Parts: sequence; C-alpha cells; structure tokens
Amino acid sequence: MNMYDLIMKKKKGCELTNDEIRYMIEGYTKENIPDYQMSAMMMAICFQGMTPEETKNLTLAMAESGDILDLSEIKGIKVDKHSTGGVGDKTSLVLGPMVAALGVSVAKMSGRGLGHTGGTIDKLESFTGFTTALSKETFIQNVNEIGIAIAGQTADLAPADKKLYALRDVTGTVDQMSLIASSIMSKKLASGADAIVLDVKTGDGAFMKTLKDSMALAEAMVSIGKLAGKKMAAIISDMDQPLGNAVGNILEVKEAIDTLQGNGPKDLEELVLTLGSYMVVAAGKAQSVEEAREQLKQTLIDGSAFEVFKKFVVAQGGCEDEVLHPEKLPVAQHIEEVVADKDGYVAKIQTEEIGRISLLLGGGRETKESEIDLTVGVMLHTKRGDRVAAGDVLATIHANDKEKLEQAKLRLLEAYTVVDNPVEEELLIKKIIA
Ligand code: URA
Repeated sequence: MNMYDLIMKKKKGCELTNDEIRYMIEGYTKENIPDYQMSAMMMAICFQGMTPEETKNLTLAMAESGDILDLSEIKGIKVDKHSTGGVGDKTSLVLGPMVAALGVSVAKMSGRGLGHTGGTIDKLESFTGFTTALSKETFIQNVNEIGIAIAGQTADLAPADKKLYALRDVTGTVDQMSLIASSIMSKKLASGADAIVLDVKTGDGAFMKTLKDSMALAEAMVSIGKLAGKKMAAIISDMDQPLGNAVGNILEVKEAIDTLQGNGPKDLEELVLTLGSYMVVAAGKAQSVEEAREQLKQTLIDGSAFEVFKKFVVAQGGCEDEVLHPEKLPVAQHIEEVVADKDGYVAKIQTEEIGRISLLLGGGRETKESEIDLTVGVMLHTKRGDRVAAGDVLATIHANDKEKLEQAKLRLLEAYTVVDNPVEEELLIKKIIA
C-alpha cells in the first residue's frame, strides 16, 4: 500500500477500505506520510466526498490514533458540547459555566480557530496567564471542584485530528461534511464524555451553507456518537449572521462576560439556553428541557454562572482582575466606525466575510505558524432586520494596522445589504435532533 495510490483512488471517486484509511492515518500520525500528500488527499476528499462507512472508519481511526481519556474519576454524567464553527461564536464561554452552576460536570475539550471561524482556546487566552495545557489530574480535579475545566487537545488525544485540523485550516479543506464529522467526533470519542450536545451551524458563516447539508452533518455525527454508546443531541442554529455583536477574541470575551451577567445579546442568550437545557437534561439534573431552561435563566440572574466562570478562569491560571474588570483587557490602537450610506433595513450580513475581515485584521491564522492578535475584530451595531438611516453606525472595526483598517472598512460596508422594505425574521434555532 502507498499514499500515492490512495490519493489516485480517491481522486477517481472510489471508496477507501478500512485498512487503507488506517494505513493513511497511522502513517500521517507517525510522520511517514508528508503534509503535501495528505493535503492532496484532503482536497480529493473535498471533491469526491466519503461514504458513511468511510466517514465512520476515518472517525474511529483518528479517535484511536492516541489515548482514550478515562474520566471515571469525575463524579456524575460528563457532558460535552461542540460547535461546528461559526463567526462570533462565544457560546462555550457562557454555556459551560451556566450548566456547571447547576451541578453538571463539564469536562470540555476545545480547539483553536479554524478557517474564518474563531476558537474557544484562542478566546480564553485573552486572560493573562490562562492555559488549557492541563495535566489529566488537574483537569479532573477542576471538574470535580468547580464543575468545569476546558483543556486543549493534547498531543496524545486524537493526534491524527490535531495534525489534520492544522493542515486543513491552511489548505482550504475544512468545509467538507465527512472531514468535519470525523474531526469533531474523533475528539469527542477520545475525550471520554458520556453525553454530547452538538451545535451545528448553518448558513453563510458556517462551513455547511445549506440546511440540508447541516442536517446531513448533524445526522452523521449523531449516528457515529450513538454507535459509540454516547447520549447525543444536535441543535441546528443560524449562522446567516454573526452570533451576538462581537467578532474577535477579546471583544468576544467581553461579550461573554456581559452575557454571564445577564446583559448579553438576545440571540446568544437564546442559543445558550437551548443548548444548555439539553445538556442539563442529559446529565439528569432536570426532568424536561423547559425545567432546565428556567434553572439556567436563574444562573444568570443570581450570579452563580459568572461566579463559576471566574473560578474556572482563575483555576486555569487566568487573571481574576481581568475577569472582574474586563475593561482592563488590552484594546486595539484604532477603533473606527463604518456607517450606512442609505436609509433602509439590514437584509443581509455576509457572515463568512465578517470572519474573513477579522482574519485580515490579525484575529485568526493564515498559516500554521501565525500568531493571533487578540485585540482586533469587528463590533456589529446593527443586525439583520434593523432599521438604519444614512450615517448610522453599522459596525466598528478594531485594528492595529492602518492599511488593514482601510481595507476592512471597505469590505465591511460591502458585506452589509440594506434594502428599502422591512425583512422577514429568520429563526435562530432551525432544527433539533434529540
Ligand atoms: N470543528 C472541529 O473540531 N473540526 C472541524 O473540522 C470543524 C469544526
């Protein structure tokens, strides 16, 4: 068997056998197969797709490429949540502490930004000193004591996905259904949670642009999880506009704190209440999603969710003063407004483009080695359906580079479509597979 033949086989649209998938994944993990051949294979998969059998085999091969975490020392049912990736998606920062405040054990494995979407770890590293490089002992101890810990993907956990994720990020090979399903589920199967709630994004800012493709992705992941004996639920949520108003690492962290204090944007709050209620029920802490939802709302009102957030950040080395006073987090040098050039209603916000503008400003990675600028990004002051008058501020751009700022301003104005007549409201939660 050799990688060249496998690339040719996939290029012609043939199905790879389990042995061939195992050969490829093992070879890549052990560095016997170079990045350039794996990039060619990923691109061939993007064009030819994978069958459900290939997707399942790829998931298991990646999950078994490293250790399977044993979380049996954590009390109760361990629940994890994973998003397929969106723009302005700071859900985990708010949701984890909320459900943990209700006694659910959140043992979460998170990733860095991918393509035009942001990652939870990059966002959390906004706090000085914060680390997700936890030993297994500290991870377990923090979940038992605080209710939540978030770890990065260690070298031992699904290492094949870790390498592939970084490669796909910079080779234009992220947005393929089987690759996303196997990437997410391999980590989830290796990370030992009992129940998994998936936030599958759909729309312009998601990797899956249509509801049909997002449903197929959700169903593929739910069936792989069930095969492995996990309790599964998937929520399909709107990504035809950014979630909340902030896009960019520190900007999103501030918005997450506002939300934990009950002052967040309504769409973000609604999404965390929906995802959270399925997590709370899966953990056996409420009889129904309606009951769980009421309990979750209470954690925002009584301050318990924010208290858990503070303890969690501090336990992972983050600066308490910055959590209590997020205004002390660094800010970008230039903050400039983009204004509407006509009266009307916001009909569309090109969401992937907003993510790409944040990347252009330095908020994400363009190569595997890129360093992120945590301060830059976009604050949206208007969302879909809002009425605007010419001269109203649509959004502000936070930048550290004058030239990039000017490019971002032009692109941002282009990303907004303002029409004469009111536009119909879109549902935030499109479908639930429970
Ligand atoms: N999140 C992941 O972990 N992997 C993907 O491929 C996409 C989103």
